[in-house]
Amino acid sequence: MAAEDGAARLSLEILQTAAEGLGWKEWYRAAEERHSIRTFLQDQPEETLLRGLQELAERLPASAGRVEVIPRLDVDIFTAIVGGYGKVGPAPSALLFVEENGGGWGPTGIGYAGEAVVLEATRLGLGTCWVGGFFDPALAAGLLELRDGERIAAVSPLGIPKARRSLGERALKAMARSHKRKTAGELTPAGIDDWPDWARTAVELARLAPSAVNRQPWRFFLESGAAGERLVVRVDEPKETYRIPKRLDCGIAMAHVEVAARAAGKQGYWERRTGEDVAAFVAY
Ligand SMILES: Cc1cc2nc3c(=O)[nH]c(=O)nc-3n(C[C@H](O)[C@H](O)[C@H](O)COP(=O)(O)O)c2cc1C
Repeated sequence: MAAEDGAARLSLEILQTAAEGLGWKEWYRAAEERHSIRTFLQDQPEETLLRGLQELAERLPASAGRVEVIPRLDVDIFTAIVGGYGKVGPAPSALLFVEENGGGWGPTGIGYAGEAVVLEATRLGLGTCWVGGFFDPALAAGLLELRDGERIAAVSPLGIPKARRSLGERALKAMARSHKRKTAGELTPAGIDDWPDWARTAVELARLAPSAVNRQPWRFFLESGAAGERLVVRVDEPKETYRIPKRLDCGIAMAHVEVAARAAGKQGYWERRTGEDVAAFVAY
């Protein structure tokens, strides 16, 4: 597992120091293009891609939880077709999102770390779909060793999407998708007009983040002071729904915020908050 970066702060900066380097703009594009993939070719993704994905996962901060790549998924961990959800899988490979509750960032952390791996998978041309409720936790737990304080919060199929879309189709899809999202105005109840460019793009990219039943339970606020700016992520309302913590979705949005900020040249880190505030991106 990756070196601990101090449980109080989270950042993806460690990925930038990776030997091969990582373009934040490429991740930005991956976040724009990503959409849930539920059907896959049964061909195994290339081993080098899967190994690269696992290596990236291992560099993420341990306090955010851990993401395990299962190269050969030989059990059906996806359990049900519910409501508007399409059938998920079968898939040749999978990701397991393991939440850390022994002093780590809990659901927020695994949303954040998990989405970092999802964006890298997207960049590599692999399809994913966060599955929070409809998987078999016992079967999934059989695929790895859970340590004290850990819980599998969610899983994702991983593989080559059955219908690869052309670039034009993907662009159209991205446009259609952004219409199924709340507007930037709805997500920033205290206003966004006077925000600096980096923070506005961060909200735009966070809008496209996946969330359980597309509920988008995140709201954004900007705090400006002598010490700089902080982009605060807050849950829409404290009441939980669908038995998946809203903080997990908020962690996913945090990864998008940070990718957009870094692509715009802003450095920073996440500081943990309590109550309805989830975390603040301290920009410098
Ligand atoms: C925490 C979480 C849990 C989810 N659970 C399921 C699920 O059980 N089944 C499913 O088909 N999709 C699931 N999704 C996918 C969402 O429905 C999807 O991300 C959302 O509708 C937005 O669509 P998009 O990912 O294509 O942008 C989940 C997403 C998240 C973030």
